[in-house]
Amino acid sequence: MHGALPSKAEYDAWVHEITYHTFVHENVKGFMEGFRYDAHPMGMLMASVGALSTFYPDAGNISDADNRHMQIVRMIAKMPTLGAWSFRNAQGKPFIYPDNDLSYTANFLSMLFKMSEQKYEADERLVKALDVLFILHADHEQNCSTNAVRSVGSSQVDPYSAVSAGVGALYGPLHGGANEAVLKMLRRIGSKENIPAFIQGVKDGNERLMGFGHRVYKNFDPRATIIKKACDDVFEVTGVNPLLEIAKELEKIALEDEYFISRKLYPNVDFYSGLIYEAFQFPPEMFTVLFAIGRTPGWLAQWSELVQDKEQKIARPKQIYTGERRLNFVPASERWA
Ligand code: ACO
Repeated sequence: MHGALPSKAEYDAWVHEITYHTFVHENVKGFMEGFRYDAHPMGMLMASVGALSTFYPDAGNISDADNRHMQIVRMIAKMPTLGAWSFRNAQGKPFIYPDNDLSYTANFLSMLFKMSEQKYEADERLVKALDVLFILHADHEQNCSTNAVRSVGSSQVDPYSAVSAGVGALYGPLHGGANEAVLKMLRRIGSKENIPAFIQGVKDGNERLMGFGHRVYKNFDPRATIIKKACDDVFEVTGVNPLLEIAKELEKIALEDEYFISRKLYPNVDFYSGLIYEAFQFPPEMFTVLFAIGRTPGWLAQWSELVQDKEQKIARPKQIYTGERRLNFVPASERWA
């Protein structure tokens, strides 16, 4: 956010601010309860982040540094609350209010999983693993969702509206939805014996190996290595996910195959993250929500940089017309006669 690591006092102030802005207006709860029982949590998150702009109409004053800071704090603090409530809606469980005694991630787990106990105490190893995942997802230059945040933010709209555009971009299966797609793919493959036929399908162009390939990483995705390690830590607590065996075998076979080698296709961050999330007992629809929570600080840092950039103009990619040059206008009355 500030381009430098914080002093102890700055760090404490930041943690305090983020911790004490986790609550949302009670009316947010009201409209979140209005979603259908089977609403996708990403749709709920996108809508509720956008709706925050109506609760903080001053957020449109983006030229004021203190104001920007306030909205940034609010959004980072409230994302876990909105994310957790999107999850609870589908489960038909009551929404749990934030517990400000807990760390960012421990509080999130409490809002997700707390039932009748006085205090929810998550396993420290799980808290740590989720923290690692959030940090790994925090920022990743001009990916599709960050580009969406920047593009919408360049209109000088408030940051809630800009970030909700980012959530929308992340929702797509080629971006944040990839880890959900990986699990579906692994389940469809079903067993190690079916891997060769699946790989053949990929080579024939009938399938896509989800969780492989990246626009920038053409050697390996360094995040994937760290996530693979986090997998082992989480499985120590939760027991091994049987799909892990298929994933490892699939990775091994793909990395030795000419098709993938020549196209420089390697596992990306999403190949293993879904397995971890599943071990936490998150349904696949929640995976992208977790990604969005982790990515929010990055989106906001990018947005903050954008709005302070004196050379920044409203986004408008150049369009090159490639259609017919000469077209005659035929009125509808003639075309439909
Ligand atoms: N499975 C099979 N073939 C693939 C894959 C894949 N996962 N990814 C790329 N290819 C092939 C393409 O078909 C193309 O082959 P061709 O040259 O014979 O036409 C070649 O590899 C180059 O691929 P591009 O599509 O040019 O790569 P691009 O950089 O545009 O796409 C992307 C990157 C979207 C990530 C792609 O690799 C993909 O769809 N991967 C699967 C989805 C995925 O895992 N997304 C998560 C990305 S990370 C993130 O968003 C957090």
